[in-house]
Amino acid sequence: MTVRLEHPVTGQLAIHGGPRTRTRPMPARGLFGEEEKAAVVALFDTSIRTGEAFGYNGPEEEAYCQEFAAALGGGYADAVNSGSSAVYVALRALQLEPFTEVICPAITDPGGIMPVPLINCIPIVADARPGSYNVGPDEVAARLTDRTSAILVAHIAGEPVDMDPILDLAQARGIPVVEDCAQAHGAMYRGRPVGTLGDIAAFSTMSGKHHATGAQGGIVFTKDEGLYWAARRASDRGKPFGLQGVAGPVQASLNLNLNDLAAAIGRVQLGKLDEIVAARRRLAGAIAAGLPARSRAVSPGWLPAGAEGSYWFMRLHVDVRHLTVDGDTFAGALGAEGIPVAVAYRGALQSQAPWLVERRAFGAGHSPWTAPEYAARGGDPVAEYPCPNAMAVLASDFNVSIHERWGEAEVADTIAAVEKVERAFLRG
Ligand SMILES: Cc1ncc(COP(=O)(O)O)c(C=O)c1O
Repeated sequence: MTVRLEHPVTGQLAIHGGPRTRTRPMPARGLFGEEEKAAVVALFDTSIRTGEAFGYNGPEEEAYCQEFAAALGGGYADAVNSGSSAVYVALRALQLEPFTEVICPAITDPGGIMPVPLINCIPIVADARPGSYNVGPDEVAARLTDRTSAILVAHIAGEPVDMDPILDLAQARGIPVVEDCAQAHGAMYRGRPVGTLGDIAAFSTMSGKHHATGAQGGIVFTKDEGLYWAARRASDRGKPFGLQGVAGPVQASLNLNLNDLAAAIGRVQLGKLDEIVAARRRLAGAIAAGLPARSRAVSPGWLPAGAEGSYWFMRLHVDVRHLTVDGDTFAGALGAEGIPVAVAYRGALQSQAPWLVERRAFGAGHSPWTAPEYAARGGDPVAEYPCPNAMAVLASDFNVSIHERWGEAEVADTIAAVEKVERAFLRG
């Protein structure tokens, strides 16, 4: 992508009443189109013609799961009703012993960590790797105990976690790794798609994600057939999927199924995913390429070697040593210039989330943290897990909501706005 930077980059900042760098609204994402509509209408047409209601676990859902698994190079997929459900189902499929510990990322969506106490395990938050939103191997290693039964990582922003050393840690202990790929459809790590690296993976397909199954949805992926059947049982009231000669439900669980209507949308969307990811990569590449000539303080966030992000958003790092203001003020000023910026992703800092700090899951007694079974394993219900790296990166970095409908003009405006704001706040 060749980007022409034509904007004047001086002038009063928009936060101080000056003209905005970007005066037009940013393009809408336009995720759903005629093809998705046609897929849904076709289901209705069939239903009206035959008198049969569309349901769940039907042909559309089966095809969607197979196509999703094929897109990841083969394996098994179970479509569920949200990304949070996908994380829950992935964890349940592993049949972790209650009152063991699951290492969790400090920066993630609540739905990416809340399932842990809901399976009666203890979430142990690992700090981010310095300069990243994602956990790093040292930070995971620092939280491992003989109570650890699994490691849950999240590829935040579509930036792959540095997986190999984390997989080595898990392998050495014989514990599984769950990948939360809610924000990372299509991201690659050393030539392998994220979601295929650990034992089992969870994706969100709500309508803000790279590809969607309608308003809400999720999907669990694994290469292990046994785990797949366990996921199916966990997502559908313990029905004896994959078990021979068993009649009734085999375990207590919820009904977390997706449905054929949503899967029909997902199938169309899946066909667009490669293009969506390629476009986001091109845009992020163009912003990264354009910044050095125009900015001293702002640079793309660190990625592990061999990682190709899929940019659910683009994380930019601000080196505040060059500036007279802090990262939040800088990002706020950029937002005022008309660039869609999330000033701070602090809502995603789970180590400080009230429910976790106050140990609130079940009842007034702070179960499962306070369970005698956890104490018997040597667990401390009030242990603190500070995350200084996560706090630092959330203070210095901000998120730009790029998406596949952006073009050269949006990239140029973003870079021009960075330059304008930086000039106003440059130190010395
Ligand atoms: C990293 C991560 N995990 C889990 C979730 C939960 O997914 P959902 O909103 O589909 O329940 C999200 C949602 O954005 C997420 O970003």
